[in-house]
Amino acid sequence: MVKDIKTSKRKWLNIGFVVLCAALLIFLYLAPDETTTPLPKDDTHIEFHSIASKKEADKLCISCHVEDGDATPLPDTHPDPYRCLFCHKRN
Ligand code: HEC
Ligand code: HEC
Repeated sequence: MVKDIKTSKRKWLNIGFVVLCAALLIFLYLAPDETTTPLPKDDTHIEFHSIASKKEADKLCISCHVEDGDATPLPDTHPDPYRCLFCHKRN
């Protein structure tokens, strides 16, 4: 009897944990998409919408988006600029 109660308690704890993880994942998945400027669709950036390798694209982004570059440098508050297209989505 006592054992049954314990098992069912643990079952609900496990379900709660899974639900919490799912909620976190969904939150993390949606958050950057909603707040981060997508990659613009202008003449400058159009080639990056079709570039096959996102890794190659990332290297090229920095050639313009730097301090003293041709375009807006990354703001001081910018997160680690590792994979540009991971956050600045190609919509
Ligand atoms: C040839 C130079 C050049 C390259 C390469 C380039 N950009 Fe840009 N980017 C610009 C210019 C110019 C603008 C428009 C105005 C500005 O930000 O100065 C711009 C604007 C942007 C904006 C919008 C900024 C805003 O204030 O709304 C984002 C986001 C952006 N670029 C991301 C990228 C990413 C990601 C890459 C690589 C895939 C990239 N750019 C490659 C020149 C470049
Ligand atoms: C982890 C997500 C992430 C990555 C990776 C990332 N960015 Fe950003 N980027 C952001 C966010 C969030 C902002 C707005 C930050 C702010 O206003 O402080 C931003 C802002 C910018 C801006 C200024 C214009 C705007 O929309 O506010 C430019 C330009 C830019 N990013 C270019 C790049 C480039 C180029 C790379 C790759 C070298 C890159 N980003 C990688 C999340 C990211």
